[in-house]
Amino acid sequence: MSGISIHPSILCADHGNLAGEVKQMTAAGADYFHVDVMDGDFVPNFACGAEILKCIKKHSNTPIDAHLMVNNPGAHIGFFRELGADIITIHPEADKQAARTLSAISALGAVPGIAINPGTSVETIKELLPICRHVLAMTVNPGFGGQRFLDFTLEKIEYLGKLAKQHGFTLSVDGGVSRDNIKKLALLGVTSFVVGSALFGQHDYAEAIRELRSEVSTPSSV
Ligand code: DX5
Ligand code: ZN
Repeated sequence: MSGISIHPSILCADHGNLAGEVKQMTAAGADYFHVDVMDGDFVPNFACGAEILKCIKKHSNTPIDAHLMVNNPGAHIGFFRELGADIITIHPEADKQAARTLSAISALGAVPGIAINPGTSVETIKELLPICRHVLAMTVNPGFGGQRFLDFTLEKIEYLGKLAKQHGFTLSVDGGVSRDNIKKLALLGVTSFVVGSALFGQHDYAEAIRELRSEVSTPSSV
């Protein structure tokens, strides 16, 4: 199994040395920078505004995957596109016109994505799947890095893995991803992995990314 992409979550970087973190993670071979935008309302935390995206753009050519954990995301997609977001992911629970917003993201030339909270059923967003190209399955309740992976989401991920083949979207997971579970997730059809605390803070980022990739490419023992 190959062709996975690793999206380090900048939320978990050392923000006192952000430029250095961005340069190091770029050199280590990150495929995207995952930027968690939080408004203190849709999620109980504030994080990652324009300055963070500007800093990434200044020090890296690695594309940006913006995860908007904000209410009424449709009002902000132009702002984040201008700042250089290549993938823009919204939470349908936060948007009264999610289909309109996804089409608008496409029209802006970015990849439209939807995030699915652990407690949100696939059935409630199924109509959106043909018009999105990226599905971000939340494997923690959004708001903070460093939380424990929620095992009950695995059943939904398996289902989304089948739908990904049918619809052609990229299936991504976000929250608590590490060397311990990346292989299991890849076997369910996940090809894109947001990794925060299991990457930032590691001694050698290139080595840490290599280890994640090699977990996925190691043949299963059974
Ligand atoms: C959670 C965020 C994640 C988080 C990932 O609300 O969407 O992107 O930063 O961090 P880890 O990998 O530590 O769970
Ligand atoms: Zn995220």
